[in-house]
Amino acid sequence: MLDMESEVVIRTEGLTKIFEKGKKREVIALDNVDLEIRKGEVFGLLGPNGAGKTTLIRILVGLLTPTAGNASVLGRDVVKEIDDIRERVALLPQEAGIYDRLTAQENLVYYGGLYGIPKEELYERADSLLETVGLLEKKDYQVKGFSGGMKRKVLVARALIIEPEIIFLDEPTTGIDTIGARVVRNLLKKLSKEEQLTIILTTHDLNEIGELCDRVGILNEGKLAAVGKSSELEEKFRAANLEEVFTGLVTGEGVYAE
Ligand SMILES: Nc1ncnc2c1ncn2[C@@H]1O[C@H](COP(=O)(O)OP(=O)(O)O)[C@@H](O)[C@H]1O
Ligand SMILES: [Mg+2]
Repeated sequence: MLDMESEVVIRTEGLTKIFEKGKKREVIALDNVDLEIRKGEVFGLLGPNGAGKTTLIRILVGLLTPTAGNASVLGRDVVKEIDDIRERVALLPQEAGIYDRLTAQENLVYYGGLYGIPKEELYERADSLLETVGLLEKKDYQVKGFSGGMKRKVLVARALIIEPEIIFLDEPTTGIDTIGARVVRNLLKKLSKEEQLTIILTTHDLNEIGELCDRVGILNEGKLAAVGKSSELEEKFRAANLEEVFTGLVTGEGVYAE
């Protein structure tokens, strides 16, 4: 739930990432991004392929360092104080792997073990999370028989076993069928309502934004082209819907801010 009074948990200022590709070519993956996200918010990062969504998330969890500008998560600098952040934020990567031959429960317990969480605690958390995602009865089944949606639910549960304050989900519904995607969306809605969790997700699905997100940031060629509630953006760009805002900003045709 978005509450404009609540504290800022993510802040970027002039955040820039340049990848060197060979001697002369470089890619500006992020270009001077200023962004604030508040506690409890569900924030959607929308953008076409190559817009910089994954790069932004990877910087915020300390997997990449910025070329310029800065970013803080939970009040800590993502470069200098990353060790204070790591165990408080979870990431579901775009290409998340799952251990097919482990059971649902084993997947969670194994992952949590990497963070040094005690065994007993892990089994308790795993049961509770598998219940939350609706897979408790399946906890002793090998994941390999699961549908795409079920696997994604295990991955979300696995990311949550560290009891993070923020979860980043990079395209959590891409590549699964319609029903699976719905299942994952419903889960995220439930988590947002019931837990004090800040959720940042990337997507190129406009419906997903409308359904899930309190606010959206539109990234295009590394630039944050617009940020706000869907309704605010529609008004600002005098568009009928978010799709019009999005295609207008990305193609450079048809929308103009007042
Ligand atoms: N490790 C990397 N090395 C070189 N270029 C990269 C790397 N990661 C991303 N890029 C480039 O940065 C741009 C943004 O990529 P990315 O953040 O993955 O976009 P998105 O997630 O929005 O599809 C793209 O042009 C991509 O090719
Ligand atoms: Mg990506």
